[in-house]
Amino acid sequence: MTDNVDDRVVAAAREARERAHAPYSGFKVGAALEAEDGAIYAGANVENASYGLTNCAERVAVGTAIAAGARRFVRLVIVTAADPPAAPCGACRQVLAEFCDGSMPVESVGPGGARRWRLDDLLPARFGPEYLEK
Ligand code: THU
Repeated sequence: MTDNVDDRVVAAAREARERAHAPYSGFKVGAALEAEDGAIYAGANVENASYGLTNCAERVAVGTAIAAGARRFVRLVIVTAADPPAAPCGACRQVLAEFCDGSMPVESVGPGGARRWRLDDLLPARFGPEYLEK
């Protein structure tokens, strides 16, 4: 559960959030993906003075995981200071869908509690590889 202080995925997202580079928005985000084998891959948002080049925490976590050799994930946790807890942006939902089943839990933790969805709730009609088949 996301309100369990011993939850290692929540802890990883929380730690990564501390390392966010968010001097422009001031909105720090930490994300942690749990892979099928239990390994955890974290990310934080990385902003840029050219604002549009900002990378969200979720996509940084995906890139970190993929570069390490992971491919399928069973859980995502994000941590922000938002209350109610923030939902992942649309671009990140589509990127997550490349590597995650629609049933994957997506949990957002904030100072006032947590929210939980399935990826399919957040992205009910994904663009997937089936559209690319001839
Ligand atoms: N951000 C994320 O890291 N993840 C999201 O899902 C939404 C937004 C970041 C991007 C930017 O650095 C800051 O939050 C404000 O938009």
